[in-house]
Amino acid sequence: MALITKAIRGTQDVLPGESHKWQYIEQTALSIARDFGFREMRTPVFEHTELFHRSVGENTDVVQKEMYTFDDKGGRSITLRPEGTAGAARALLEHGLNNEALPIKVAYITSCYRYEKPQAGRLREFHQFGVECFGTAAPQADAEVISLASHILKELGVTGVSLHINFIGCPACRAEYHKALKGYFESKKSELCHTCRDRLERNPMRILDCKSPVCSGIATDAPVMLDFLCNDCLKHFGSVKDCLDAAEIEYEIDSGIVRGLDYYTRTVFEFVSDALGSQAVVCGGGRYDGLIEELGGSHLPSLGFAMGLERILMVMEAKGVSFPEPPGCDVYFASMGYEATKRCFKMAVSLREGGVAAEFDTIGRGLKAQMKYADKIGARYTIVIGDNELYTGNARLKDMKTGEETDIKLDDSLYNVLFNKSIDRQLADVAKVLSTTTEVL
Ligand code: HAM
Repeated sequence: MALITKAIRGTQDVLPGESHKWQYIEQTALSIARDFGFREMRTPVFEHTELFHRSVGENTDVVQKEMYTFDDKGGRSITLRPEGTAGAARALLEHGLNNEALPIKVAYITSCYRYEKPQAGRLREFHQFGVECFGTAAPQADAEVISLASHILKELGVTGVSLHINFIGCPACRAEYHKALKGYFESKKSELCHTCRDRLERNPMRILDCKSPVCSGIATDAPVMLDFLCNDCLKHFGSVKDCLDAAEIEYEIDSGIVRGLDYYTRTVFEFVSDALGSQAVVCGGGRYDGLIEELGGSHLPSLGFAMGLERILMVMEAKGVSFPEPPGCDVYFASMGYEATKRCFKMAVSLREGGVAAEFDTIGRGLKAQMKYADKIGARYTIVIGDNELYTGNARLKDMKTGEETDIKLDDSLYNVLFNKSIDRQLADVAKVLSTTTEVL
């Protein structure tokens, strides 16, 4: 029995008391992305395994060690998405979006699956907010995408993050770099882990991303890509930095960023938090100019980023950011007797059609228990209806915060009274959040 009442290791439930935080983060990110021209895209949770082999790369930890891959009942190899870019790129090609006005700008919220060792901020099922900007090679697009990530983090009150950027070249200069890396690691081949010895032949850059302490120790003194950039790449990197400077977005150059996925080219970046332990990267992204071609499309330089929503939430909580109160119950109808319950049901239905959050007793409890329940769910007002109220058409509206009671009529005027009170409450909530967000920033 224990097994079926326990979530799988590395997964988390979002309980009703927490879901408003997720909604706030997701809606804020989507709404800011919309201001930048990114529209939401949704893709399936699983794809053909081959898609991830071709995009994320055969030699990455993600593909070699972390994917949830299985054969479906038709014998096809299927993989739960370990990230969102591959699915977005596949959908772009499948639906011919690349033939529309460029750039194509999409945003998404996805669950992702990686068989990693769970720890604080590292899960096997986690969630990302991401964006992809397909069809631009211009350096100002790099700065624009970085500024979008920065804007979202700021708006959410994710303070104490620093932006690290690196430039990992194009296929032309990368070939020279690979030669130098190969030369460096060749002399230390016997010390490398089994996987990295194999990587040395296929893609030596992946050794830089190995999580084994021995390999990462050896990688510390390896040649850096920045010393091998061709003229085009140097120019592009210079312009990205220029644009970031113009927008006063602070960054540091970090030659250690290689990113764990093979599709990256040129600009790569990470936002690192001071509030998390070893899993401090809250957002990562970069260019992938060759990916669309690799998947069978034409040359379509593109870029994007994804932020880990669990990590964003952890930082917000660590920084004491306040979340907007989840909308609660505006009015609870407590009833005495079946006829009164029917009337409460009818009133709740019509009030809700007009946007007032109304509830009534759906268990058949006594009046005292109903009032206790109304208090527990934080009902703003209660109205008790029994035979007398049914007969006279009058009742009393009780303010559950102040205890104050007012006479009301059980007719259409009730809607106006409650609607105005509900609007007043919502405005007060918004004002409260705005004032706390400003304090945080
Ligand atoms: P990524 O760096 O693999 O990039 O993941 C992006 C973010 O997802 C990370 O910075 C981190 O916040 C979060 N994350 C990754 N793995 C885990 C995990 N096991 N548990 C919790 N959070 C995690 C990508 O996925 C790229 N697709 C980003 C991108 C989009 N690049 C271009 N476009």
